Amino acid sequence: MNVADPTTILADEASLQLDAQGNLRHLLTLKGLEKGLLTEILDDAETYLTPPGSPPARSRSLAGRTVANLFFEPSTRTRASFDLAGKRLGADVLNLDVNTSSRKKGESILDTIYTLEAMQVDVMVVRDASAGVPAYIARHVLDHVSILNAGESDVSHPTQGLLDVLTIRQLKGEFTGLSVAIVGDIRHSRVAMSTSQALMTLGVEDLRLISPPAFAPVPDAIPGARIVDNLEEGLADADAVMALRIQRERIGNLDGVPGIDEYFANYGISQESMKVAKPDAIVMHPGPMNRGIEIEGAIADGPRSVITRQVTNGVAVRMAVLDRVTSTMANRR
Ligand code: CP
Repeated sequence: MNVADPTTILADEASLQLDAQGNLRHLLTLKGLEKGLLTEILDDAETYLTPPGSPPARSRSLAGRTVANLFFEPSTRTRASFDLAGKRLGADVLNLDVNTSSRKKGESILDTIYTLEAMQVDVMVVRDASAGVPAYIARHVLDHVSILNAGESDVSHPTQGLLDVLTIRQLKGEFTGLSVAIVGDIRHSRVAMSTSQALMTLGVEDLRLISPPAFAPVPDAIPGARIVDNLEEGLADADAVMALRIQRERIGNLDGVPGIDEYFANYGISQESMKVAKPDAIVMHPGPMNRGIEIEGAIADGPRSVITRQVTNGVAVRMAVLDRVTSTMANRR
């Protein structure tokens, strides 16, 4: 992938997101987004939630708009929820099959983007293994088009961060005073980055990032977070605990990575390891889960688990984001 200058792109992606009036145009990262805007998106997402067993919320706010899902990495939750979110808002939704797309024949990503723009696609939802790709695309699209980052290397997964903090807010209320623990392969996790950024912006003062040394974040990746390598210490009195899978697809050298049994024994989220957390602590996981490695099946399916609630919230958050970026689209022509 020929991304011109990833360093420059990463540096200015936060400022790329807002239009001249300060409205959200693209969603590339949660870094730098203000608390007020994050809170508004969470509040909007709540309006798209309906009680279990009742029909999902629908509107026609995206009628006439076209959303394209461009997933150049595998996905179940993010892709399906953007698909449902777009359709429930009345948009035409195109799910490009990247395995049969012309990128396999050497077409550049920008030529793919320009082709979709010529078909009057308004929103492109992009997942890619390379850092900088969503911002690179955002810098090249027509004025009205919006780019939504659906997972970028180990850098960013902003809608996952939003659905995680929405889930915590629903169950724990105010963020100030909460102790939140994220456990596992922090270093290679875009979820850890985006969820941590949102938690810090929203007021969490006690964020613990727990991992073996091989999976610890790079220094200052999350300023203000406590880096912990002992699970019991990191989980003590926690209000919310999120387990992360080992991101094998992004680990070049497996030296220093513990074996599965050792990893589960020392870093697995289980009924036993959760005994030191608060009695009402919730257990989260962004998915996909590897049961028996980073999380015990019994706790993933047990009463503390809010993992399926996270999935439900994912559709609502993506509806809120789609609605927000398209609501000002006509002003950007
Ligand atoms: N949480 C998450 O991004 O899951 P998918 O890879 O299934 O989209």
